[in-house]
Amino acid sequence: MKYSWSVASEVLRISTPGFGGFREAITDFTHEGFTVPKGSKNPKYFPDPEKFEPSRFQGNGPAPYAFVPFGGGPRMCPGNEYARAVIHVFMPNVVTKFRWEKLIPGENMIYYPAPRPARGLPVILHPNKP
Ligand code: HEM
Repeated sequence: MKYSWSVASEVLRISTPGFGGFREAITDFTHEGFTVPKGSKNPKYFPDPEKFEPSRFQGNGPAPYAFVPFGGGPRMCPGNEYARAVIHVFMPNVVTKFRWEKLIPGENMIYYPAPRPARGLPVILHPNKP
């Protein structure tokens, strides 16, 4: 269960549905004693950032507030826990109980307004034998 959430987190990191929320400091500034350097959207927290690597979320995981797929603070996503519950139920079931046959191999992704397969990811689900 813990590893499947690491997989989901890595998907949210690489292709987050809330990509418009990624903010970057455009100048150095100080707020309540904390200095935020320009460009504080720092790849040092995610080495080899293009690589799909769920294990980066194992152990202590990323530094606090380095990974905020649901935002943070007073406007943080109120669907956070619901989304986590749905992913926890849906993903392991689909992966362990079915084999997927993609009907459009290499289907393109579109990214606006949210990332999704261009043609809806049609698949045939073949039930795995119990
Ligand atoms: C994987 C699924 C989801 C992701 C990654 C996600 C991500 C986000 C992000 C990044 C924000 C902006 C937070 C900010 O400005 O700091 C947001 C806001 C919001 N989300 Fe989600 N969300 C998800 C699922 C859901 C679900 C399932 C619901 C409702 C059932 C929901 C309802 C909302 C609402 C109402 C806001 C606006 C909150 C406000 O402005 O006060 N989200 N979400």
